[in-house]
Amino acid sequence: MKSFIMFFMFVTLLFSSGNNYSTRSNWLMQVDTDDEKFRAIQNQLRGFDTAMVEVGYRYDAMKQALKVKNYELAIYHLEKIKVSIENGYIRRPARKEASQNFFLNASYKEFQYALTQKNTAQIADKFNDVRNSCNACHADQKVEFIVIE
Ligand code: HEC
Repeated sequence: MKSFIMFFMFVTLLFSSGNNYSTRSNWLMQVDTDDEKFRAIQNQLRGFDTAMVEVGYRYDAMKQALKVKNYELAIYHLEKIKVSIENGYIRRPARKEASQNFFLNASYKEFQYALTQKNTAQIADKFNDVRNSCNACHADQKVEFIVIE
């Protein structure tokens, strides 16, 4: 019985070596044609979700920065959020219009302005608008279960 299991494992190993999984670090160079290479890179870059993971991280970092009134840091993250959303809609053009209408041409600019003015009350007010923009766009894009607090 034991030797049968060993034999079975050996055969499995032998045949699994011919699957699609690369164990080498130069996986991209092993893809045959240029077209397939670009497709492989495109798949790795993914779509709007990876942009939103960054946006979510920077939103939290911005919130922390506001607590300690580090407004330069908040501006830094806010501007990276813009870059990330713009890169996101280059990958997923269907998200462009909503990104601009709900956020980039709306609460983004007002919040940015409030930060440059260093007016604490105005900053708190405009940050509220930013959060509402995030959630309004999520509702519009049918991901209303993603709630930003
Ligand atoms: C285009 C309108 C739009 C705007 C504006 C927007 N989001 Fe999103 N967000 C989405 C969509 C669409 C998804 C789901 C992405 C997917 O599944 O491909 C998403 C997903 C997310 C996720 C989940 C990411 C994950 O997969 O873990 C977070 C976090 C997030 N958004 C945060 C934010 C924050 C914070 C803001 C405001 C600063 C914001 N979003 C503004 C459309 C938007």
